[in-house]
Amino acid sequence: MTTVLVKNAHVVTAVDNYTADILIENGRVHTIGMNIPVGDDVEVHDASGLLTLPGGVDVHTHLDWDFGVAKTVDTFGTGTKAAAFGGTTTVVDFCNQPPGESPLVGLEDWHRRRESACVDVGAHVILNQVNDQTLIDMKTLIAGEGVTSFKLFMAYPGVMMIEDGAMFKAMRMAGGQGAMTCVHAENGPVIQVLIEEALAEGRTSPKQHMLTRPPLMEGEATHRAIRISELADAPLYIVHLSAGEALAAVREARDRDIRVHAETCPHYLFLTDEEYDRPDFDGAKYVATPPLRGHEHQAALWRGLKTNDLEVVSTDHCPFCFNEQPFGMKYSKQQGVDDFSRIPNGAPGIETRLPLMYDGGVRKQGMSINRFVELTATTPAKLFGLFPRKGTIAVGSDADIVLFDPDEEWTIRASEHHSRVDYSLFEGRPVTGRVKKVLMRGQLIVDGAEWLGREGAGEFLSRGECGIL
Ligand code: URP
Ligand code: ZN
Ligand code: ZN
Repeated sequence: MTTVLVKNAHVVTAVDNYTADILIENGRVHTIGMNIPVGDDVEVHDASGLLTLPGGVDVHTHLDWDFGVAKTVDTFGTGTKAAAFGGTTTVVDFCNQPPGESPLVGLEDWHRRRESACVDVGAHVILNQVNDQTLIDMKTLIAGEGVTSFKLFMAYPGVMMIEDGAMFKAMRMAGGQGAMTCVHAENGPVIQVLIEEALAEGRTSPKQHMLTRPPLMEGEATHRAIRISELADAPLYIVHLSAGEALAAVREARDRDIRVHAETCPHYLFLTDEEYDRPDFDGAKYVATPPLRGHEHQAALWRGLKTNDLEVVSTDHCPFCFNEQPFGMKYSKQQGVDDFSRIPNGAPGIETRLPLMYDGGVRKQGMSINRFVELTATTPAKLFGLFPRKGTIAVGSDADIVLFDPDEEWTIRASEHHSRVDYSLFEGRPVTGRVKKVLMRGQLIVDGAEWLGREGAGEFLSRGECGIL
């Protein structure tokens, strides 16, 4: 394998900020030091003027994901290429338990699909039923398959939702085996009543998605999930937290030293529910779950990042096209043109997380650059059993390295991104800070606008114990 030197690197990790050279051998960081001498056969990247960051770790994606009537439009190949252009070199993706079948069958199918990945990928397994056999399968997944996190839905009744008793059993099993349970916390049955009432009254536009999923019901479910995990004595990870009420429940539990962790996503930090007032059907682009919230929730989330009650920013990249063509109705928001409840829930974002958080967090909110790395790489790697292989730049770590220009001004455009989805939530948004080069295990895969990676280069990440910081 090639030996690579990143010279004059301004290295930023969650805890450090210094200048050095980084010598990479066999895909790993071999030496970090001053003026490392190398021969002519070594590939050298001069990182002067740039920030040298650990590759981003995105622990919430839905690639090539079947959501019943809808399917996400990115393959592992296209989605992870987009991730790489956005400075993300590790993805932990959601794998379905097929209805009525073992989660191990779902994992086998997921492994077939992830073979096209361009960056390293791990799997969380979604459980939509929990019986005695499922509990045995969970042990196999944890001990034998490197899957140490599970996802449970308190939303989407009849599709993904499981009831509280099943949630308790799964959490207890996971917690007892060093695994962590991720929960989508919204009160599905109550939301279903609100959806049915809206439709009966002829309220069918995308804005109804937001009106029928109130923050109170996210707060209620978050509190319930926490209490159940507390009884199960198991670590809990709340995904895509969007509401002040949910954050208050997390804070209250963390103040009591309960093992609760939570992530939010860039769309909740940078957009508000005003997007649902867009004309025609345009608001459908913003139909993700939970919905975008008001300014007061957004302010609460930024505070949560400051107080560390929110520990991770991931994308929930769940891309459905706005237009029916070219991929067809199954991949499109147009399914819900006459009925908001049929709009596939999900939004893209895998390529813009780092620039948005740098621009909006570091530059505009005074977030430290170490905190930026911690939120987008180090803590997700630690919580999901990947540290120190991923999430930092240290001797022995995988040489997943991003050279980032903190001063480049550019504008986010869907026409320039690498996902197959046909829109961006952030279309036309000016940002400062851009990914210039990406190395994945020492291989240069992104060089400016040039793609040097390849489908199939990504490896499966067998993960260790979760929920440990
Ligand atoms: O809208 C979303 N988030 N779609 C993906 C499924 C989920 O709830 O995570
Ligand atoms: Zn969810
Ligand atoms: Zn999701």
